[in-house]
Amino acid sequence: MTDFRDDGAAALDWAARYLERVPELPVLAQVRPGELSARLPAAPPEQGEPFAAVLRDLDEVLLPALTNWQHPRFFAYFAVTASTPGILGELLAATLNQVAILWRASPASTELELRVVDWVRQLLGLPDGWHGHIEDTASTSTLAALVAARYATGRNVVVCSEHAHSSVAKGARMLGMELRTVPADAELRMRTDGYDLDDAACVVATVGTTSFASVDPVRALAERAHAAGAWLHVDAAYAGTSWICEEERWSADGVELADSLVVNPHKWLLVPMDCSLVWTARPEEWREAFTLTPEYLRTADDAYSLADYGPALGRRFRSLKLWAVLRCYGAEGLRAIVREHVRLAELFAGWVAQSEDWELVAPQRFSLVVFRRRGTDEENERLLERVNATGEIFLSHTRLGGRYALRLAIGNERTTEDDVRRAWELLEQEARR
Ligand SMILES: Cc1ncc(COP(=O)(O)O)c(C=O)c1O
Repeated sequence: MTDFRDDGAAALDWAARYLERVPELPVLAQVRPGELSARLPAAPPEQGEPFAAVLRDLDEVLLPALTNWQHPRFFAYFAVTASTPGILGELLAATLNQVAILWRASPASTELELRVVDWVRQLLGLPDGWHGHIEDTASTSTLAALVAARYATGRNVVVCSEHAHSSVAKGARMLGMELRTVPADAELRMRTDGYDLDDAACVVATVGTTSFASVDPVRALAERAHAAGAWLHVDAAYAGTSWICEEERWSADGVELADSLVVNPHKWLLVPMDCSLVWTARPEEWREAFTLTPEYLRTADDAYSLADYGPALGRRFRSLKLWAVLRCYGAEGLRAIVREHVRLAELFAGWVAQSEDWELVAPQRFSLVVFRRRGTDEENERLLERVNATGEIFLSHTRLGGRYALRLAIGNERTTEDDVRRAWELLEQEARR
């Protein structure tokens, strides 16, 4: 068993040391599939062990099998940060173990959640009066939006761009809805013409697509969707955070017309996994689509339950970590980090654009650069494997029109100009080999 104070102090010390030494660890796990499984006992322990044994094995057994998302040279997918106030918020949320199935089960969780989600709404410049709550991931938030859209429209078709995140297709598939993908234009934005929306339940527009961070024309899509009686859902899971900076609000044009919107603080707002915010301008219909109260949960004072707004009944106290982050950084602190990430991405994109050996594959947006070495797909693929194998940096890839492209995404609080410069040096060095 544990001694909570002593083991807790040791765990916190482990966490602090990890954050200090993570820049020296390989970014990408340097293990082969199954290597860790071979080291884990096949059966659970019969007798309890001291917590110190868990910490020891975390170091000796698990650490080599970690891909270190907290590493300042993690540039793959969308890079993220679990900031220290967010980590401590998680610790406290686990300690309190609120299971917010209805208001009386946790007035604090319910009311804090509504308040901090509304704080973020204000910080992002979104309309007054929207109802927002927290889901685990954008996949769930979008799934919930599709449920609401189908309920509100009585239709069964989902329309999105060819570059929309796979969670849209997955949500449609789970719900037995028909998915129609629409081609994008030269700037990778969803086309607004050449297709019909007469039977559409939901049009999904993306601000900050996963592969390219491109921005769909939300205003035109919203107007078309609404004229056809469809619901407009906006997926700004990654890029929505940038709206805390006035100069990035160009990409929010038309978002005020959305019926629902998802933004993930666990992507670019320094909150540890998981924390996805979803707002709706049509809270009544949204709630009707989900509400279902069994007898054992009926009480006189429970006028309000956030479980009425999504798939899950038991809800974690996720707002605590978001509250901690918003309070400890303040809007100013958060803006400074987002601005620095955008600056670093612009710097890197500049190096790519100035070099004859490299090219930008998509216009640089937010904190993402999509690029490739001039040459074959195979050369780029091998280059990515080689740089990732160094353990010094970790980038990911995508394809545009079948062509292989590299993605460098900046999202870690500790990433500096030196880290980005090192990534460029390594890419150049490995490419010249
Ligand atoms: C634009 C976009 N939407 C949705 C998602 C899915 O996010 P989650 O992992 O929170 O489900 C991602 C993931 O990267 C994304 O980039």
